[in-house]
Amino acid sequence: MRIEDAKIVAELAELGVELRRGSSLADLTSLGIGGTTDLLRITKHESIPSLLSLLDSHGVPHRFLGGGSNLLVGDGELPWAVLQLAQPNPDLVLEGNIAHVDAAADLGRTVTYCAKHDLGGMEGLIGVPGTVGGALRMNAGAYGMQIGSYVREVKLYRAAARRIEILRGEQISFEYRHTSFAPDDMMLAVKLELPSKPYKEILQGIRICNEKRRSSQPLGQKSAGCIFKNPPGASAGRMIDELGLKGLSRGDARVSDRHANFFVNAGKASAKDMLGLIADVRDRVFSAFNIEMEHEVVIWNA
Ligand code: EPU
Repeated sequence: MRIEDAKIVAELAELGVELRRGSSLADLTSLGIGGTTDLLRITKHESIPSLLSLLDSHGVPHRFLGGGSNLLVGDGELPWAVLQLAQPNPDLVLEGNIAHVDAAADLGRTVTYCAKHDLGGMEGLIGVPGTVGGALRMNAGAYGMQIGSYVREVKLYRAAARRIEILRGEQISFEYRHTSFAPDDMMLAVKLELPSKPYKEILQGIRICNEKRRSSQPLGQKSAGCIFKNPPGASAGRMIDELGLKGLSRGDARVSDRHANFFVNAGKASAKDMLGLIADVRDRVFSAFNIEMEHEVVIWNA
């Protein structure tokens, strides 16, 4: 998607939106897969309603990108502009047990910063790549915890109402890798209420989670984390492993040898390769176990 209209380009500048032409989504996602499009970097939350009216009134299709760590993007010239929040400085302010965090803040850095100030609870999320906004939208979780449990308030752009709103934690439902936010809502900031815990104790929890993750997940490789959700009462990784599919590949897209629910880009995998591999594994699991697995990774395909 190329934004050619000079009027739009001028208005973007006025709104403090930085236009990065022909950005490669392969460079903006942890899988390292995805074509090119114009990237719009938002520096002021307040400009979002005007930005979206501008894009809608000119018929410019768009999508919101977080940290790109749970995303598989299609190949070639992409048919939408991509919007992303720029990271403000500071992106995290503490006030007693409350952490005010910008959606663009890095999740791992947020966990460690809070830990250093004796605020715990999020130890399990250490090592989960991505932004706080992405973690919120998906209700990221690991090792028995999920971020939703600590949410007191969310500031978001509500696409349906076309304005920025604040929701209290009780107004949002957080389920397993699912939330009540609409697909086109855009997370802007969150207030997390975290339990007080001595840094040393939190650090111990962090070390244990890091160790578990290192021993069971392919951390150094390009991936989007788990590809499928765990079906109720079953484990996607275990089923794929039981079928002997570790190492199965299409081009450079490959089922990890370490964790069968992680699919890695072992070189120059295309979205076509990765989508083919995902469909193949899904079909084989269905044939063997009669279980239809749902994607955990978000797929942006034209
Ligand atoms: N297993 C296998 N073979 C494999 C992988 C797993 O037999 O190749 C078995 C394990 O031995 C274990 C069971 O499957 O008995 C579950 O595996 P694991 O403990 O690795 O957890 P998971 O259910 O596969 C979930 C989340 C992860 C999260 C971990 C740790 C989902 C889809 N995955 O994985 O989240 O890091 O628990 O809490 O819910 C993600 O969301 O992207 C993600 C990686």
